[in-house]
Amino acid sequence: MDINHVLITGVAGFIGSNLLDYLLDETDWKITGIDNFSTGNEDNISHRFDDPNFQFFQREVSQLSSLRQFEVVFHLAALPRIQPSYEWVEDHVTANLMSGIHLLQLMIREEYFPRMIYTSSSSIYGNPDTVPTNETEPIKTMNPYAFQKYELEKYLEMLEERYPLDYVNLRLFNPYGPRSFNPDNQFAAYSSVVGIFIDKAKNGKTMQITGDGTQKRDFVHVLDVADACYKAAIHPENLNTAFNIGAGKTLSILDLAKIVGGEYEFIPARHGEAEITWADVRKSRDLFGWEPKLSLDQFIREEMRG
Ligand SMILES: NC(=O)c1ccc[n+]([C@@H]2O[C@H](COP(=O)([O-])OP(=O)(O)OC[C@H]3O[C@@H](n4cnc5c(N)ncnc54)[C@H](O)[C@@H]3O)[C@@H](O)[C@H]2O)c1
Repeated sequence: MDINHVLITGVAGFIGSNLLDYLLDETDWKITGIDNFSTGNEDNISHRFDDPNFQFFQREVSQLSSLRQFEVVFHLAALPRIQPSYEWVEDHVTANLMSGIHLLQLMIREEYFPRMIYTSSSSIYGNPDTVPTNETEPIKTMNPYAFQKYELEKYLEMLEERYPLDYVNLRLFNPYGPRSFNPDNQFAAYSSVVGIFIDKAKNGKTMQITGDGTQKRDFVHVLDVADACYKAAIHPENLNTAFNIGAGKTLSILDLAKIVGGEYEFIPARHGEAEITWADVRKSRDLFGWEPKLSLDQFIREEMRG
C-alpha cells in the first residue's frame, strides 16, 4: 500500500503530538491533524505549523465528513483518564466510543476503508490473571474508560464480518515521555504518573503515591509507541488484530518515586485501577517487527538534569 496522506485524530495531545513529530521526521507523508483541544493544546503542535506536510484543523472527530483522501487514519482522540470517566460519563462515551463509531460510519457510507490504527488500552485487561499479559488474556474492564476503549475494539471485530475493514488495535500500556504532563489539562492530576512525579520533584513538591505504592506499571516511551503506530501503518498485510505495546517489564509506583527522587507521601488508593500492568510483547515483535527500545531510567535522568 502506498501511503501519501494520513489523518491523526487527537493530534494535539500527548501521544498525538509525539506521533506527529515522529512521522514528520521519518516520512514524507502529508499529515492532516484534528483536535478539539478538550485535553490537548496548541503549544504541543505549534512548532510544526510551518511544516508544509502538516495541516491542522481545530475540529471534533464527529465533524469529519469524509476519509477519502487518507490511506491511514491514526485514531487517538479520546478522554483517556480513568477517574474522570466515572463522573463525566456522557463526555467519555462520546469521545472514547462515538468518535470511533463516526469514523467507521464514514467508511461504511463511503465504501472506502483506509487502514485504521486505533490506540486501545491495556486497561481492558483489568487485573490480569497472567503476567506478563498477552493478547489472549480475558478482557475484564474495571472502569468506564476501559469499557469504552474495549467497545470500539469489539465494533471493529463485528463490523469486519460484513465490511472489508483494515485495522490494528494497539493496546498501549503506560506511555511516558515529553508532554505527558500538562498543568493546563483539566485532568492533569490523572495523567501519566511519570510526568506528574517529575513535575513535583523538579518543583520541590511532595510526590503522592496512591495506596501503598506496590501497584506496578509497564512504562513505555512515547516514541516507542509512535514507532509502533508507524510500523502498523506500513505493514504490508491487513492485520485486523490487537497488539500489546509496552516495555515488557514492570515497576512499582513506590520504586518509581525512589528513582525520580525527592519527598513522597501516601494517599488513598483509587477505585477501578489495576494492581499490575505488564506486557508480553512477543506478538508485536513477531508479527510486525516492533520492539521497545527506549529506557525509563535514562528519560528520568535527562528530565531531572534539564
Ligand atoms: N496516556 C496513556 O496512559 C494511554 C494509555 C493507553 C491508551 N491511551 C490512548 O492513547 C490515545 C492518546 O492518549 P493521550 O495520552 O495522548 O491523551 P491526551 O488527552 O493527551 O490526547 C487526546 C487528544 O484527543 C483530543 N480529543 C478528545 N476528544 C476529541 C474529539 N471528540 N474530537 C477531536 N479531538 C478530541 C484531546 O483534545 C487531546 O488532544 C487515547 O486514545 C488513549 O485512550 C493512552
